[in-house]
Amino acid sequence: MLSEILSVIGTTFLSGLILLVIYHLRRLDLYKKASKFCGPPTSPFVGNVFQFLGNTEDIFNEVTELSRLYPSPYRVWLGPLLLIFLSRPEDVKTVLKSEKAIEKAKVYEFFQPWLGKGLFTAPAEIWRVHRKLIGPTFNLKILESFVAVFAAQSNVMVKKMEAELNGAEFPVFDYLSKCTLDIICETVMGVSMKAQIENECSYVEAAEKTFAIVCQRTFKVWLHPSAIFNRTQLGREQNKHIKTMHNFTNNVIRRKKKALLDRNTEKAAVGGEDNEGGLPSQRKAFLDLLMEGTHDKMKLSDSELREEVDTMMLAGNDTTSNVISSVMLMLALHPDVQEKAYLELREIYGSSDPEDRNVTHDDLERMEYLEYVIKESLRVIPIASLISRTLSDDLDMGEYTLPKGSLAVIDILTMHRNEEIWPDPLKFDPDRFLPEEAAKRHAYSYIPFSAGPRNCIGFRFAMMEMKTVLATILRRYIIKKDKFVPLVDIKLKMDGLTKPVEPIMLRIEERL
Ligand code: HEM
Repeated sequence: MLSEILSVIGTTFLSGLILLVIYHLRRLDLYKKASKFCGPPTSPFVGNVFQFLGNTEDIFNEVTELSRLYPSPYRVWLGPLLLIFLSRPEDVKTVLKSEKAIEKAKVYEFFQPWLGKGLFTAPAEIWRVHRKLIGPTFNLKILESFVAVFAAQSNVMVKKMEAELNGAEFPVFDYLSKCTLDIICETVMGVSMKAQIENECSYVEAAEKTFAIVCQRTFKVWLHPSAIFNRTQLGREQNKHIKTMHNFTNNVIRRKKKALLDRNTEKAAVGGEDNEGGLPSQRKAFLDLLMEGTHDKMKLSDSELREEVDTMMLAGNDTTSNVISSVMLMLALHPDVQEKAYLELREIYGSSDPEDRNVTHDDLERMEYLEYVIKESLRVIPIASLISRTLSDDLDMGEYTLPKGSLAVIDILTMHRNEEIWPDPLKFDPDRFLPEEAAKRHAYSYIPFSAGPRNCIGFRFAMMEMKTVLATILRRYIIKKDKFVPLVDIKLKMDGLTKPVEPIMLRIEERL
C-alpha cells in the first residue's frame, strides 16, 4: 500500500517536473529577449510580485519609483508575466500604431465578468468589427446634440452646489459624479437617472468598487485564476456589485427594445415614416443608434448591446468626474489661471446667468484657454496613467525587440512628467498647449486619451462635456482652496484610474 502511494506521488512529481521543464523550454526565447532589458532584481518563480503587495497607493508609488530608477524601456516580472514599461514618445508611437499590439493585456480580462467583450476589453477580432460599428455613433452631429444634456445637467449641479456657498471646503467629487452619471445615462441609454435630484447612486458606488477590485487583482497574481478569486471575499464582493449594474442595464435595454418594437408596429399599421426613430425628443441616445443598426448583419445581440452600454457607462463616467475634480483643484490652486479662464467665458457670455443662457456647441469652440487648462490638468494627473497591450508577435523597436507574449506597458504619467519633454514638469502651465508650443513636441508625448487605432473613442465627447460643466461652474462660482498644495505633495493612487489619495476638498464663493 505504502509503496503504491509513494509510486503515485513519485509519478505525479515527475510529470509535474517534466511539464515545468517543457513550459520553460518553450519560453526560452522570451527569457533570452527579456534578459536584454534592465529592471529590478527578481526572485525565482515570483519575479517582482512582492514589490506590488500593498494597497493602490503603494502600487502607484512603486511604479513611480521604478520609473525613477530605471530608464525606459525596463522590465518587471509579475510571476510568469513579462511587463516592459515604456515612456519614450517614439517607442510609445511604435507600439500604439502596431497591428501586433492591438490585443489588450490579459489582465483586462478581469473586467470581462462586468463588461464582457465590449470595446474596452474585446479581443482583437471582435474589437475590429465593433469599433467600425460604434465609431459612427460618436460623430460630430450626434455629439452636438448632446451639448444640451451636458448644459442642463451642469445647471442642476451648480444649483445643488448652492448649499455649499461661502461655507467650508467640501468634497466636490460627490456633486460631479452624480452630474456625470446623469449625463452618461441620458446620452448612452436615453434614460433620465435623476441621480442629482434623487441622490440615488448605487450604480456609481458599484462601478467604483468593482474598478478598484479589478485593479487590486491585477497586481496580486495569486488572485488571477478565477477559481481562486471567486472564492475570496473580494471576488464575492465584486460579483455582488456586477449584479447590481447588470440588473440596471438589462432593465433599460428591455424597456428600450419594447418601445422600439411598439413604435415599429405602430408605424407599420399607419404605413408612415418614423422621422426621428419615434423618440420623444429629437435626440437619440447611443443605445438607440446601436439598436437601430445600419444593416441587419451589423446589429448587435442583446448581450453584446449590454456589454457595449456597460463599457460606455464605465469609460465615460468615472473618468470625466475625476478629471473635472482635478481641473477644479488646479484652478483653485492657481487663481491667476482661473481668472484668465473666467475672462474668456465673460467674453462669450457677458454677465448672464447659466440658467438664462446655456452653453451651446458654438460656445465650446471659443473656450480655447479652458481647453488648455483641461489639457494641462490631464498632463499632470492623467487619469489613465498606465495602459497595456499584449504583443501578438515580436515587435522590432530598432534598438531592441518586444517579445511575443510580453505586455507593453505605456507609462503615460512618467512621459507626461518627463522634464526633457516638459521643462519644469511640476509647474502647472496651460500655455504649454498654445498651438506654437504644442507643435514643438513629439505627437505621442501627450496621450491622456491614448493614441493610434485603439485610442479613446469618447475623447471628443469627454472634452465637450468637461468644458460645459467647468464653464457652468466658473460662471457662477469662484473656486478656492484654503491652503496651497504643491503638485509634488498631491499623493496619487492607482484605483483602476489614477486619482488623488485624499478626496479633493474645495470651497466656492459667489462670483459677483
Ligand atoms: C477625461 C475623460 C477620458 C479619458 C482621460 C479617457 C481615456 C481613455 C484611454 C487612455 C483609453 C485607452 C485605454 C486602454 O488602451 O487601455 C480609453 C479607451 C476608451 N474610452 Fe475613454 N477616456 C475618457 C472618457 C471617455 C468617454 C466619455 C467615453 C464614452 C462616452 C469613453 C469611452 C472609451 C472606450 C469605449 C474605450 C475603449 C476603446 C477601444 O478599445 O476601442 N472614454 N479612454
